[in-house]
Amino acid sequence: MSNLVTLDETIVVSRPLGEVFAYVSEFNRIDEWDPAVAKGTKTNGGKTGVGTQFRIDMKAGFSLDYTVREFEVDKRLLMDVDSNVFTAVEEITFCETPAGTSVRYLARFDFPKPLAVAHKIYPGLMNKVGKDTMEGLQRALNDNFAAPEASRALATADKLVLPGIWRFTKLGYKEAKKRWKPLSAYQRDRHAVITGATSGVGLAAAEQLAAMGASITLVARDKAKADATVRELIAATGNRQIKVEIADMSAMRDVHALADRLVKSGRPVDMLINNAGALFNPRQQTVEGFEKSFALLLLAPYILTEGLRPALAAADSPRVVNVLSGGMYSQKIRVDDLQSKRGRYSGATAYARAKRGLMILTEEWAQSWADDGIVVNAMHPGWADTPGVETALPAFYKLTRKFLRSPEEGADTAVWLATSTEAGAVTGKFWLDREQHPSHLSPLTVESSKDRQTLLQTLADLRTSTRPARKRGRPRKSA
Ligand SMILES: NC(=O)c1ccc[n+]([C@@H]2O[C@H](COP(=O)([O-])OP(=O)(O)OC[C@H]3O[C@@H](n4cnc5c(N)ncnc54)[C@H](OP(=O)(O)O)[C@@H]3O)[C@@H](O)[C@H]2O)c1
Repeated sequence: MSNLVTLDETIVVSRPLGEVFAYVSEFNRIDEWDPAVAKGTKTNGGKTGVGTQFRIDMKAGFSLDYTVREFEVDKRLLMDVDSNVFTAVEEITFCETPAGTSVRYLARFDFPKPLAVAHKIYPGLMNKVGKDTMEGLQRALNDNFAAPEASRALATADKLVLPGIWRFTKLGYKEAKKRWKPLSAYQRDRHAVITGATSGVGLAAAEQLAAMGASITLVARDKAKADATVRELIAATGNRQIKVEIADMSAMRDVHALADRLVKSGRPVDMLINNAGALFNPRQQTVEGFEKSFALLLLAPYILTEGLRPALAAADSPRVVNVLSGGMYSQKIRVDDLQSKRGRYSGATAYARAKRGLMILTEEWAQSWADDGIVVNAMHPGWADTPGVETALPAFYKLTRKFLRSPEEGADTAVWLATSTEAGAVTGKFWLDREQHPSHLSPLTVESSKDRQTLLQTLADLRTSTRPARKRGRPRKSA
């Protein structure tokens, strides 16, 4: 008796061929659409092609090792599958149809005898596996999910110390992930600008976006570190569309120049991730005389985002993502002391107030830029194991290390907000692990509308006053 079992399933989706091929060929994301898969990992770096390997961990407790044997862009993917349980050859073929794209999945499994016998007796079981997989893929590619709405239960839990804090750990991430939808939106024609992309959350976001094929502009202050990051990202993803812009984001003259360069380049900005950040103890001042947390965490994203408005408005589905922190829950904006000059300075307080300010801007931009189609959201990465946390908060780091999530897990919501179709429908909100959370947990931190206006006016004035005077051109000869 033959031990060979064949599955043959075809779906048709109303998406362009290139988009469908791009999503399926990122085969490590199979956990988004195959209900039997726990996790997919690409085990060798570079662009997917002949020789690329994926390890697929099944929920049933075993793993499959895939090796791409043949790879024809927009046509076909042929993979050898090896595992302790069986071997297989899987072929996925793609074809343009009047309705969009058809995807055919053809798998030949070589099962050990007992499994082959079981299949003979219960042929429906394997066929169901094949059907579930392809229905999952169809659902992922249909991509018509509604973004999660604000939930009263979540907001109530946030107010309780333990459930609120638990969410920030890797356990909170794991729990929320169970509720996520696939993310198949096409990114290969989109451009992301990410500040603070040389480390931690920003670096992880850059890698995830590069893996999806987006073009990336990394904003960094250190050229050597930025160049090393570019090499690292290319090696990991094979994406060469990665550029560097040098700017010290605590120096407003650099921020103005950066915004001007990006706008002048004429390239739309589809995604802006305001991520660069640090916590300063003791109080520090920038060369321009600003308290450093205010400069880096609030004034810089304000000037950059305002400056990039035309480049954002020129994009098809522009997104601004502000990376905030749960720390903002502890503070109200102090418009009369934005630079923490009064009283005893605390780095954590200055940090939290600046993040609170950026939350206010998120809400203001969301409203006033809606007509330009610019979607603006804010997110909390949770507590992620990054160099920033280790150096700025050594005691906290030592205490919580076991529960910290990875930088990749911390970056996920920023990437989701920047890319997913579902997130494009909601603006002006605060998110953690792809779920909406309230922007205040206590009425004591809510600012008045007068405070909002003062904040906006102060930032606008500083934007004007920090703009370096334009160099005068050569005087024209009078006629
Ligand atoms: N990790 C967490 O648990 C956590 C929690 C809440 C919020 N956050 C927020 O997440 C964001 C990223 O933090 P992280 O934990 O990933 O920290 P990180 O590992 O220290 O990364 C910070 C990034 O910001 C850049 N940066 C800092 N100052 C800069 C400046 N003056 N000009 C340009 N770039 C500058 C750093 O550049 P260099 O590489 O040159 O230093 C680095 O790329 C921050 O906004 C932080 O507030 C993080």
